[in-house]
Amino acid sequence: MQDPTKVTVTSITENYVDMLLADEEHISRAGLFHHFDPKRTPPIGENGIALLVEVEWGRYSYRALFDTGMTGKVLLHNAAALGVDLGQLDHVVVSHGHPDHYGGLVGLLESREASLPLSIHPEAFLPRYLRLASGEVAPFYNSDLTREHLERLGGRVVGHREPLEVGPGLIATGEIPRNVAFEQPSRRIDTPNALIQVAHDGCVHADVVPDDQAMAIKLGDGIIVLVGCSHAGVVNSIRHALEITGAQRVLGVFGGFHLGFPGVPQERTTATIEALRELEVEMLCPMHCTGMQAMMEMRRQLPDAFVMNCTGTRVHFDAARIELSAKNGPGGARRS
Ligand SMILES: [Fe+2]
Ligand SMILES: [Fe+2]
Repeated sequence: MQDPTKVTVTSITENYVDMLLADEEHISRAGLFHHFDPKRTPPIGENGIALLVEVEWGRYSYRALFDTGMTGKVLLHNAAALGVDLGQLDHVVVSHGHPDHYGGLVGLLESREASLPLSIHPEAFLPRYLRLASGEVAPFYNSDLTREHLERLGGRVVGHREPLEVGPGLIATGEIPRNVAFEQPSRRIDTPNALIQVAHDGCVHADVVPDDQAMAIKLGDGIIVLVGCSHAGVVNSIRHALEITGAQRVLGVFGGFHLGFPGVPQERTTATIEALRELEVEMLCPMHCTGMQAMMEMRRQLPDAFVMNCTGTRVHFDAARIELSAKNGPGGARRS
């Protein structure tokens, strides 16, 4: 397949709404005018992520959705508010089997006539539980995520553990090797008052989310990396995406970096920012479970790369522009 020459990443669902953010070069917003114009509907925030990726080459285009947010209701509402026709989607990639990432799938499939290919790790379908500190167990919170259910609604499930090209220049990474010391599962705490567990081989284990995958979008000699909740670690995800694509530059990283949970040590945020600096990430769009504190720290330390990305933000990348701006570290992909 041919690589794209233009890429647009639109945040359809994201935790935050900020109508005061202004347009910038190559970045457009659902801003003040969109929110106050009585003829328009403002998008709304929801815990979760749904990123629309539109790639273009010549006269052709292709649209993939990376994650679907927590509910179909918000996904469909925001898509309509932002003028996005989800009936035109060509593919969906699910980052992992937690409801804030796949929860909108059922509503999305129900809203469409045509079938839709879904790229997902097979272990995303394992039954998951939430065990509270009180001992109480919320059973099987992902019971609506089964292959049979999705296929009955028109989903064409493509289960994979290895990298998979899902469209022109679009690669679902599959399972992500976990090599970075400060991103090892033993150093991560999901939340101090609840334990997320998963059933596997007849036993219930702590959930380290082996199904976590990212998406890489090839553009020129670089890639844009989308992460869901970074359970595999955002640095591991970027390194894996670079390795499987052979790309030379990281033009952008969008998604949840998993630094905002109570109990995540400050050193992990510090080490993550240092690694992002070393990787020379040119545009940094931390969202969702990154947490506001870590986001503000990134903004302070990597001001040229940082972009506040909220519901309704659209970021436009163009291969010709990217080529003109030689690899030059933070902010490179933003400069024309
Ligand atoms: Fe998650
Ligand atoms: Fe999440």
